[in-house]
Amino acid sequence: MTDNELPGPDDEARVPRRVIGTPAQGTAVLGTRPVETEVETPGVTLPDPADARKAERTVTLLFFVAFLAGIAFIASYVVFQVGSLDKTAVSNAALGGTLTVALLALASGVVVWVRRMMPKYNLVQERHEMRSDDDTRGYVDETFRAGAAESGFVKHKMMRRTLLLAAAPLGLAPLVLLKDLGPLPGTSLRHTVWKKGMKLVVEGTGQPILAADFDSPGGILSVVPEGYEHDLNALAKATLILIKFRPEDLKSGTIKNWTYDGIVAYSKICTHVGCPAALYEQTTHHILCPCHQSTFDATDGAKVIFGPAARPLPQLPIGVDGQGYLIAQADFDVPVGPSFWERGDAEADAREARGNQS
Ligand code: FES
Repeated sequence: MTDNELPGPDDEARVPRRVIGTPAQGTAVLGTRPVETEVETPGVTLPDPADARKAERTVTLLFFVAFLAGIAFIASYVVFQVGSLDKTAVSNAALGGTLTVALLALASGVVVWVRRMMPKYNLVQERHEMRSDDDTRGYVDETFRAGAAESGFVKHKMMRRTLLLAAAPLGLAPLVLLKDLGPLPGTSLRHTVWKKGMKLVVEGTGQPILAADFDSPGGILSVVPEGYEHDLNALAKATLILIKFRPEDLKSGTIKNWTYDGIVAYSKICTHVGCPAALYEQTTHHILCPCHQSTFDATDGAKVIFGPAARPLPQLPIGVDGQGYLIAQADFDVPVGPSFWERGDAEADAREARGNQS
């Protein structure tokens, strides 16, 4: 049977037919109460009556729980007033908890109802053959040949050749347009301008940073490479956040050799889609990206603890020069920015190398 055909008389036995408001096949009606019988219909599995009675009790109980939780939700709204952080937390927990229980119980009741109390139908939808029938194929072939003969494409050789000649440059036109997209990026997207010995300077003022002056744990600075303070292309990838920790606060995710006296430098470019991740919670040591709330643990290699970002903010190896100013020890070992790079081989290689260093 195709999608558009109505079921014929032969389909009756195969296609279960139900009319809303009538009892399912396999039930008989005595008075007002349907009673299951042992009549079997091909393709239809009736629920086991004993199991259905048990399920009915379960469903009733679940719906009653949903009712109580719904009442508790409304009561929570009235009873738990907000006004302070603690009160709001209690109110949220009560509202969220009661609503969760209500919805869960309601949904579970419906699922048990459908799965254990209703008949199951095996439905088969047959599809028509994909191949057209021979008549249709013959017709298309004939029409195509007639059109080709009428156009004179085969007969007028010169015209045919000049047509192909005219089409050739147009076929190559996209290649010319591709050239307009500019030079290929090569490996430039995998690197930033940071290199060994380059000074870290404060974003905005351009001041180099004496490690001894950056000495209060919890302090944070936005930092750029010296010489590139106004190069927006370079800064789009090279901007850092510099955070000072007590050395004992740093966890295993942070590469200790790349820190200096508890000072750690992370890329400021969020690994989700590249917003500047520069909000810092001093008490929890969390770096937050304001765009989609990705949260990174600054004490633990800036690994992701919440949100859509898929990988940590890359850490820059830093140290000091002869005068005690903070400098880079090298470029980042992984590409900075969006997690597209997660798929690159460079990321996997670097992660392996990091494992050996931390
Ligand atoms: S860009 Fe940072 S979370 Fe989306």
